[in-house]
Amino acid sequence: MSYVLLTGGAGYIGSHTALALLNANEQVISFDNYHNSSSESLKRVQQLSGRSLIDIQGDVLDSQALAQVFEQYPIKAVIHFAALKAVGESTAKPLWYYENNVTGTINLCKVMSQYGVKKLVFSSSATVYGAAEQMPIHESAPRSATNPYGQSKLMIEHILADLHSSDPDWKIAVLRYFNPVGADASGMIGENPNGIPNNLMPFITQVAVGKRDKLQVFGSDYPTADGTGVRDFIHVSDLARGHLAALGYLQQVQGIDYINLGTGQGYSVLDVIHSFSKVNQLDIPYVLTDRRPGDIAQCYADPSKAAQVLKWTTEKTLEDMVRDSWNWQKNNPNGYN
Ligand code: NAD
Ligand code: UFG
Repeated sequence: MSYVLLTGGAGYIGSHTALALLNANEQVISFDNYHNSSSESLKRVQQLSGRSLIDIQGDVLDSQALAQVFEQYPIKAVIHFAALKAVGESTAKPLWYYENNVTGTINLCKVMSQYGVKKLVFSSSATVYGAAEQMPIHESAPRSATNPYGQSKLMIEHILADLHSSDPDWKIAVLRYFNPVGADASGMIGENPNGIPNNLMPFITQVAVGKRDKLQVFGSDYPTADGTGVRDFIHVSDLARGHLAALGYLQQVQGIDYINLGTGQGYSVLDVIHSFSKVNQLDIPYVLTDRRPGDIAQCYADPSKAAQVLKWTTEKTLEDMVRDSWNWQKNNPNGYN
């Protein structure tokens, strides 16, 4: 029996991926310091799947704690989700972000090397494309970053490329996620942001549940069809399946590969609000305000490489995303708390 180790496995994407892995009969270990999560998500994952996983509280900055996991369990591959991810906070606390995300990844790779485990799936982000000029965005587009969070992802992409050059035994899938939203259709697990949400969908669901008065739509003068920002929203359950496909792909990948996980379809902020209102029969009060500094007009993926190499495409629609986001929020008005 060998295990798939998920760092950050209790988080939003990690917990949905843990569920997909358990449902596919994989053995799962989560290693998470619960900085932005709690073990409640994993309790629910086990309830939903009817299978158990190994839930370890630990920090990727703690090499000894990591080594202990590799010492104790046979591990065949690692999916590395653990990171800090709030763009604004990264600008205020850059050293913390670089240490946690970059040093954490270096620690992890050192321990993996030490134990001869050289299969890694890494959570990167469309943020590494900066303000891309061409849509849809292909994996070969130029990379840049505009904030410490994005820089940390870009640095890790470079580090992993160098690691593979130094030792071709490494097999690495760098997954660049577009905008993950939604929740498992059961409504039992979902996104659980701390404090005021930065991201669009959790803000909308908190307005819907009465925790916030209204949504601010940041910018209505972008060069897009309705003037509001356009993004490639991807259902988190589709994203989770993408990780399963990536694990399979690690068996055959030649070295390191970079793959977009998106739908290929851009929707505007107003599209999302209107879809949410229509599907859930709820009014979402909103006001049009100034652009949010650092935002780009549009960002959507060319998903053809994922279809080709991972044999994976998304299945869920925007309607599924807004329905499942609301289902999670209304069943859990205070998240996991
Ligand atoms: P999340 O915050 O819900 O999950 C990350 C998990 O990592 C949390 O449970 C947190 O407690 C844990 N963690 C953080 N630092 C740790 C450390 N030092 N040691 C151990 N555990 C640690 O975030 P998420 O949305 O599930 O994101 C998962 C990954 O995907 C992250 O790497 C993130 O940067 C990336 N990503 C997310 C998005 C998004 O919009 N959600 C988009 C692109 C990329
Ligand atoms: N938006 C609003 N009001 C809000 C929140 C967001 O109008 O209250 C708008 C934004 O201006 C943007 C769109 O909704 O046009 C999406 O914004 P999000 O904050 O939900 O997502 P971003 O595209 O800004 O960024 C997200 C993650 C990043 C990640 C990126 C690409 O937060 O970490 O997707 O994967 F890098």
